[in-house]
Amino acid sequence: QAQSERESLLIALGFARDFFVKNLNTPEGKSIGLSYFKERGFSPAIIEKFDLGFALDGWDNLLNAAKKAGFSEEILLKAGLVLQKEGDPSRIYDRFRNRAIFTIHNISGKPIAFGARILTKDKNQPKYINSPETPVYHKSDVLYGMFQAKKAIRDLDNCYLVEGYTDVVSMHLSGIENVVASSGTSLTEGQIKLIKRFTDQVTVLYDGDAAGIKASLRGIDLLLEGGLNVKAVVFPEGEDPDSYSRKVGTEAFQTYLKEQSKDFIGFKIGLFKGEFSRDPIRKAEVIREVILSIGKIPDPIVRSVYAKEAGVLLDVDEEIIHAELNKSLLKSQ
Ligand code: CTP
Ligand code: MN
Ligand code: MN
Ligand code: MN
Ligand code: MN
Repeated sequence: QAQSERESLLIALGFARDFFVKNLNTPEGKSIGLSYFKERGFSPAIIEKFDLGFALDGWDNLLNAAKKAGFSEEILLKAGLVLQKEGDPSRIYDRFRNRAIFTIHNISGKPIAFGARILTKDKNQPKYINSPETPVYHKSDVLYGMFQAKKAIRDLDNCYLVEGYTDVVSMHLSGIENVVASSGTSLTEGQIKLIKRFTDQVTVLYDGDAAGIKASLRGIDLLLEGGLNVKAVVFPEGEDPDSYSRKVGTEAFQTYLKEQSKDFIGFKIGLFKGEFSRDPIRKAEVIREVILSIGKIPDPIVRSVYAKEAGVLLDVDEEIIHAELNKSLLKSQ
C-alpha cells in the first residue's frame, strides 16, 4: 500500500531527528553541540527528552545520509530539510548547518519541524533558523513543548506560555513541566485552541524587554477573547525565564512565579505603576486600557467580576467602568 505524502514526510522528519540526535555523539558534535548544551546547563536526560541535536557543519551531511537511506530529494524538500540553490534549483543543500537543533514535535510526539540555534555570536546571521511551513507543520497551530507538557498542563490545570525554545527546556530543568512556547511569533487563535484542549488557565511569561511586554499585552487580549483565564509575570529588564531561573536558582524562580503572577488587570496596572499616581490623564489612560481588555472577555459574568476588581484596584466608581465597558462593547459589535 502506498504511503500518503504526510506519512512519508513524517518518516523523513523522524530520520532527520535521529540523524541530528546521533550527531551529538560524533567528535564534532561532542566538542561543539554537546558542550554548548552543557554550558546552558542542559542535562543528558533533558537533551534526550527534547530530542535536542546537532547539525554538522557542511552543505550536504543530512542530504547524503537521507538519500543513502532511500529518501527522495522531493520529500526532503517538502519536509523543509533541504533548500534549492538560488539560480540552480536542481541543486539542493541542507537547511540546517552547524547549529544546535531543537526538535519540534506534534501532539503525539512525532518530529514535524526543527529550530536551529547559531552557536557563535555572529550578528550577521539569524539567531534561529526554523523549518518553513510544510504539509505537516502549520506554525500557527503548533506550540513548542506541548507534547512534553500536555499531561502536566492537564494535571495542574494551568499552562505557562513562554517565548523561546530554551525557556521551555530550562523550566523543565526547574521542575516546571506545564510550559509551552509560542516560539517568538505572535500568538494565534489556533494555538489558543490547542491550549484549551488541556486547560482554561494561562500564565504568560514573556521576556522582560519591550518586545516581550508588547507581545504579552497582545497575547493577553487574545487569550481573554478565547475565554481563558489569564495571568502574567513580568521579568526584570533583559531577563527571560531561562536566564532568570539560572540567575536566581530553581527555588527562587518558583517563588518568583508564585509571587509575581498577576491577573491581567494587575499586570496592566503594574506596567504603569508610579506613572499614574499623580497624573489624572495618565490614570485615565490606564483605566481605559484595562477596560479594553475586560471588554474582550466573552462571558458577561466573568466580565462583571473583573469590572468590580478594576473598580477597586484603580479606585474608580464601578458604574463608570460599566458605562465605559458598554461603550467599547457597542463599538466592537
Ligand atoms: N526566534 C526565531 N528566530 C529568531 C529569533 C527568535 O524563530 N531569529 C524565536 C525562537 O523560537 C526563540 C524565540 O523566538 O526561541 C525567542 O527569541 P529570543 O528571546 O531571542 O531567544 P531565546 O529563546 O531566549 O534564545 P537564547 O536564550 O538562546 O538567546
Ligand atoms: Mn498553514
Ligand atoms: Mn525575546
Ligand atoms: Mn533566552
Ligand atoms: Mn528570550
